[in-house]
Amino acid sequence: MNNKELVKIAFNAMQKAYAPYSNYKVGAALLTESNKVYTGCNIENAAYGPTNCAERTAFFKAISEGEQSFSKIAIVGGKNGVVTDMFMPCGVCRQVMAEFCDGDFEIIVAKSQDDFKVFTLKELLPFGFSKNNVKD
Ligand code: THU
Repeated sequence: MNNKELVKIAFNAMQKAYAPYSNYKVGAALLTESNKVYTGCNIENAAYGPTNCAERTAFFKAISEGEQSFSKIAIVGGKNGVVTDMFMPCGVCRQVMAEFCDGDFEIIVAKSQDDFKVFTLKELLPFGFSKNNVKD
């Protein structure tokens, strides 16, 4: 699965976004080491706080299906589902990624299938808090 294909899947996942409050629609496509893709979209809530980002939706779907090894995630988003630029994942999603992924996990932020940037988790969450801090 190449980056361009993964971005395309993220675009399709964005169509499922439930974002009636912000109207900012986000789609994610998470690739496992075994080459399976789990998609995610943002899911908002009238109480705002329970809102779940697209990236975490993808991770929680995958984890709940028994996956534990991931290689990369593609994310796209925009107001009313119109993607005009790349955006960076929120801090909470970076922390969730850090729970399950090494520093070399790749985060692909895309504007289109042909216009994207690739960052590592290490770049986006340096000096993070991790399971190493709480283990005995
Ligand atoms: N959102 C995501 O899905 N991922 C992010 O990394 C940042 C924000 C969603 C949450 C909310 O539904 C909307 O975008 C506006 O913040």
